[in-house]
Amino acid sequence: MGRTNLLLSELGFGGSNVGAVEDDEEALVTAFSQGITFVETGRAYQGSELAVGNVLKRLGARADSVHVASKTLGRSRDAALRDLEQSLHYLGRRSLDIYQVASVGDEEWEHVMATGGAWEGLQEARDNGLIRFIGISSHSLDVLRKAIKCGRFDTVQLKYSAFDSRSASLIRLAHKHDVGTIGMKPFGGFGMLGSLKHSPYAATLNASTLLRYVLSNHLISVSIPGMRFPREVEENVQTAASYDLMTTAARVRLQNQAKCFLASVPHPLVRKPRQRNA
Ligand SMILES: NC(=O)c1ccc[n+]([C@@H]2O[C@H](COP(=O)([O-])OP(=O)(O)OC[C@H]3O[C@@H](n4cnc5c(N)ncnc54)[C@H](OP(=O)(O)O)[C@@H]3O)[C@@H](O)[C@H]2O)c1
Repeated sequence: MGRTNLLLSELGFGGSNVGAVEDDEEALVTAFSQGITFVETGRAYQGSELAVGNVLKRLGARADSVHVASKTLGRSRDAALRDLEQSLHYLGRRSLDIYQVASVGDEEWEHVMATGGAWEGLQEARDNGLIRFIGISSHSLDVLRKAIKCGRFDTVQLKYSAFDSRSASLIRLAHKHDVGTIGMKPFGGFGMLGSLKHSPYAATLNASTLLRYVLSNHLISVSIPGMRFPREVEENVQTAASYDLMTTAARVRLQNQAKCFLASVPHPLVRKPRQRNA
């Protein structure tokens, strides 16, 4: 994964929707036992860090092969360090592989990077051995471009799927600068597959084709679909283990299908995640 040199499964686990109920832990157990070695969670995903921490504890020594990334919505040094302390507690680790400043908007970049900003806190945490690498996640292509070019981030997390491939040039740029890339929302975001299910597009736009689309971009370090059920993990692992590279023409066809679907349902029904306990 870029300059981190972490060796990860190309299919990772997006943890934003686990942790609402105890059963969610089974999806994580299945993932780690089937060879997924990267999980992404976040301080703001409440029960998620706790669920990941519980499962890592259950794995015992096998947990050493799992790389963990989490993130903070804090923008100041102090807020980021406070969140990190909590993340370490819930995840049950002395140190995390990657800690990210999450969802940084255009107007927040300067603040995050200023003296006393979140980046400074994470640098301090890295110096103190609490984290190994510093990352950032954003929906702003401008912020991501700055993050890649400034040389101060080891990883960037960006939206990348057949529904939204605008970050493709940034993935190439990150590769050139040896910055690791984490592809979020590979199925178009939580709820998209549910909306597609009963549409005329279900045969072409499904978990298997959408996952093949992102995995066929070999410049991206890891893609992290959200998964709540063991059967989803099994299906996605099966796809990742056996897919043929999608040709450029097939990728463009899928993007066009995705565009047509979005145009046919201006506001795709996005089902809300279940309530979380804590
Ligand atoms: N930094 C940020 O700003 C940010 C924002 C959003 C997300 N993220 C990260 O990106 C990850 C992924 O995003 P996401 O969960 O919103 O979107 P996504 O990965 O595009 O979609 C996830 C949903 O797809 C469904 N799914 C997964 N595998 C399936 C399968 N084989 N068959 C049928 N359905 C399947 C599940 O829905 P059901 O659970 O309903 O079955 C799952 O919750 C998050 O978990 C999080 O780690 C980061």
